[in-house]
Amino acid sequence: MKRLLILGGTKEASQLAIKAATISNLEVRLSVAGRTTQARYQVGVTRVGGFGGVPGLIKYLQDDAIDILIDATHPFAGKISLHAAVAAQELDLPRLMLIRPEWLLQAGDNWLEVDNITSVAEMLKENAKRVFLAVGRQKLTNFVHIDKIWFLMRLIEPPKKDDLIPQGLIILDRGPFRLIKEKELLIEHQIDTIVSKNSGGDATIAKITAARELGIKVVMVKRPQLPPGEWVNNVEDALIWLLSFIKSTSY
Ligand SMILES: NC(=O)c1ccc[n+]([C@@H]2O[C@H](COP(=O)([O-])OP(=O)(O)OC[C@H]3O[C@@H](n4cnc5c(N)ncnc54)[C@H](OP(=O)(O)O)[C@@H]3O)[C@@H](O)[C@H]2O)c1
Repeated sequence: MKRLLILGGTKEASQLAIKAATISNLEVRLSVAGRTTQARYQVGVTRVGGFGGVPGLIKYLQDDAIDILIDATHPFAGKISLHAAVAAQELDLPRLMLIRPEWLLQAGDNWLEVDNITSVAEMLKENAKRVFLAVGRQKLTNFVHIDKIWFLMRLIEPPKKDDLIPQGLIILDRGPFRLIKEKELLIEHQIDTIVSKNSGGDATIAKITAARELGIKVVMVKRPQLPPGEWVNNVEDALIWLLSFIKSTSY
């Protein structure tokens, strides 16, 4: 029997966990950070919450006798991916990254690509008046000091008591989002600029398509660099990797 730990928080991680759970002689664990309280998981053993940095992760991997690690976290969850890389190297543990493809610029897009979110606020001051800030709750604080822009912010759950929130409107909703609704939202709030991370995937791409069709600018934050190591960009390839690893070590 081998034990697999999947670092999750994405649709792909949950899908992989469900499929991997059907592999014989494999026990699957899914770990999530616990940022959203309403998340639904369909696999047997799910653990919630941080490990306590690299030392905590190493301890967990050892104590729970994990044999294989798949990092299927979000492309912008750079810290946990780095921790996973360091911990796996330290323990000589096989590790795979499952990372969905990024969105690619298409004809008609009006993107300004930036390396990280910290420079975006200054950039917006010159060029925008009504901004759809699709960057997640934790990044809103970067925009609180701007008083000449109205922000539309879409969150999965209400902000926490101590969160610093830019001026504008918060709406609560959870993807997947439909193109027609995204267009209506952008038109209703007279949005001139969208700020988005290049998350990739189908669930949140509709706002990018809507921006293209409506001629709205997108400030697109590029992904952080992946740590070194093997990677695949879909669930099926992760399963192939997993099966071949199990086969190669079962003699
Ligand atoms: N960043 C995004 O845009 C985004 C979007 C959608 C979903 N998510 C998901 O939300 C989670 C948090 O994202 P983040 O950007 O805050 O990550 P992060 O900056 O890379 O991680 C911050 C800390 O959260 C804990 N953590 C993160 N992922 C974890 C996991 N799967 N299991 C256990 N602990 C985890 C770790 O705490 P310790 O150091 O204490 O171990 C980590 O150091 C990730 O699992 C990610 O897949 C992120």
